[in-house]
Amino acid sequence: MTNVRTAVIPAAGFGTRFLPISKAIPKEMLPIVDRPAIQYTIEQALDAGIDRIVLVTSRGKTPMEDYFDIAPDLEATLERRKHAKLDEVRRISRMADIVTVRQKEQRGLGHAVLCAKEAVGDNPFVVFLPDDIIVGPAPSVTRQLIDVYGRRGSVIAVQEVPMEQVSSYGVVAGEQVGEREWRLREVVEKPPRDKAPSNLAIVSQYIFSPEIFAALERITEGAIGELQLTDAIQILAKGSGVHAYKFNGTRYDCGTPLGLLQASVELALERPDMRDRVKAWLAGLNAKLGQPTG
Ligand code: G1P
Repeated sequence: MTNVRTAVIPAAGFGTRFLPISKAIPKEMLPIVDRPAIQYTIEQALDAGIDRIVLVTSRGKTPMEDYFDIAPDLEATLERRKHAKLDEVRRISRMADIVTVRQKEQRGLGHAVLCAKEAVGDNPFVVFLPDDIIVGPAPSVTRQLIDVYGRRGSVIAVQEVPMEQVSSYGVVAGEQVGEREWRLREVVEKPPRDKAPSNLAIVSQYIFSPEIFAALERITEGAIGELQLTDAIQILAKGSGVHAYKFNGTRYDCGTPLGLLQASVELALERPDMRDRVKAWLAGLNAKLGQPTG
């Protein structure tokens, strides 16, 4: 299997959909049950054999760095008290080798990825959009993509979405070359519904060869006045080629308050220490909702 060992995680945005809380807390630090959303992303990367993580941050995002750093006083106290959470606190602070780069101005996803150029160097890398958490049976979506990268080169994860939602996404079209694979011909960022070339939307993850950086240096402001990663993908698609891959797995869109809430409840149901209590609560809630009102 191809060696893809670097991840870029753009986590510099304002998180406007989560205002007002994102005014003071990075949206990536909002909890899914008792862990920040960013931890799920980093664990997805580590699970796929990635050992170098480039986190693109901005002003106000240091809680993310603190979270993955060693907290000697806390560890000493937990150790003294023989606290049950000690092992987990230790594991989190040692789980990943994280490099941070700063995006000083919010100029879009393409610009955020370009900020990681020096840190990535001449290596293939996975871009993780931390809003999306994908769960499902092995192999994970990252492993599925690494496999496609080994056979075809740069690849982006796509999912079918209802036509009324296409304007929220990058949308792809191309020639189908496998059960789940397309060779990209066209990729458009946030098209209006009547201009969308399909309902295959870019979600969650991409794997790029370092060639993408030259394309990112060429793009100009695109949809919503931002430097769009999608426009660089279009350049690469016309050059050495890019494939889209319809992955197998369930996606939770944690980029909105409702999506984060759904992910919290559904992932709590997967947790052996919580499953029974959450099920009992949901059953009670369901009965209450079924009762006639008024
Ligand atoms: C970004 C990308 C878009 C992709 C989407 C997936 O948009 O620009 O191509 O489809 O993530 O969530 P954003 O959600 O940041 O507006």
